[in-house]
Amino acid sequence: MASLKGKDILHGNQFSKKDIDAILKVASEFEKELKKKDGLPLLKGKIIATLFYEPSTRTRLSFEAAMQRLGGGVISMGSVESSSVAKGETLADTIRTVSQYADVIVLRHPRTGSAREAADATPIPVINAGDGAGQHPTQALLDVYTIHKELGSLKNLTISLVGDLKNGRTVHALVELLSLFQSKLYFVSPGLLRMPEEITANLKGKGMKIVETEDMMEAANASHLIYMTRIQKERFADLSEYEKVKGSFIIDQTFLNKLKKKITILHPLPRVDEIHPDVDTYSGAAYFRQMRNGVFVRMALLAMIFGKR
Ligand code: ASP
Ligand code: CP
Repeated sequence: MASLKGKDILHGNQFSKKDIDAILKVASEFEKELKKKDGLPLLKGKIIATLFYEPSTRTRLSFEAAMQRLGGGVISMGSVESSSVAKGETLADTIRTVSQYADVIVLRHPRTGSAREAADATPIPVINAGDGAGQHPTQALLDVYTIHKELGSLKNLTISLVGDLKNGRTVHALVELLSLFQSKLYFVSPGLLRMPEEITANLKGKGMKIVETEDMMEAANASHLIYMTRIQKERFADLSEYEKVKGSFIIDQTFLNKLKKKITILHPLPRVDEIHPDVDTYSGAAYFRQMRNGVFVRMALLAMIFGKR
């Protein structure tokens, strides 16, 4: 595979099937290691900086945990309000500054394309931890790790992506990875929140079978897995539009009772109301296992970027 050493991670489309196989293999190795010991000191003396201009729980903390499990150090900008961003410093200047203190930057920012801008402003690797409604490639990698673990394969799967397909950066990145594995996809969303046309057209151009529908039950019954997403309230300029679509798709006990067979359920989290807490004890509910997998996958990415795998 093309080595990840010194590379930026910006977009789901940058990975080949071989890259994904290699990342999953290293993540699985680290998962096994962490069952035996607390960590592996591969990155002693290295530092990552986490710069989050938008809220996060899982991505920031799992990157920080991953780096610490590998023996490295973490510096964090904290909130936008507590940094010089509040004084009006530009993204490029902030990135230049942080590049003096860290070896890799993990960035979440509300503007689509910001991760690319940041990468252009520094010679050190930038990892896109979510750029507006654009991409969230490390989430997509932990999603495929989870799908592989839960279902035993990534090939020839039928997967329903449900919810806010317009603004959901996790689904935008995930479909890029799934397009490498001949999966069939159901896109289930309200009309207002359909997958952007250029993404759907690009996937179809690669020969993927895609069905767009508003019928979650029909899609679920035809699928091995449902990937549920939150309606991204923060992306709506007009909150009355959000009110029209909120609560459009909900998985609850009644829905599970009507399913013809067991199904695996993923969600990048956080959830609002789209998966009822009653569903958490369902054997196919894999979203808490999915978030744990984030640590192993992010350890793999960091070790590979530093050339240690
Ligand atoms: N945590 C994911 C993201 O930041 C999904 C979400 O927020 O709904 O994109
Ligand atoms: N899945 C995800 O990105 O979660 P956070 O927004 O909590 O980081």
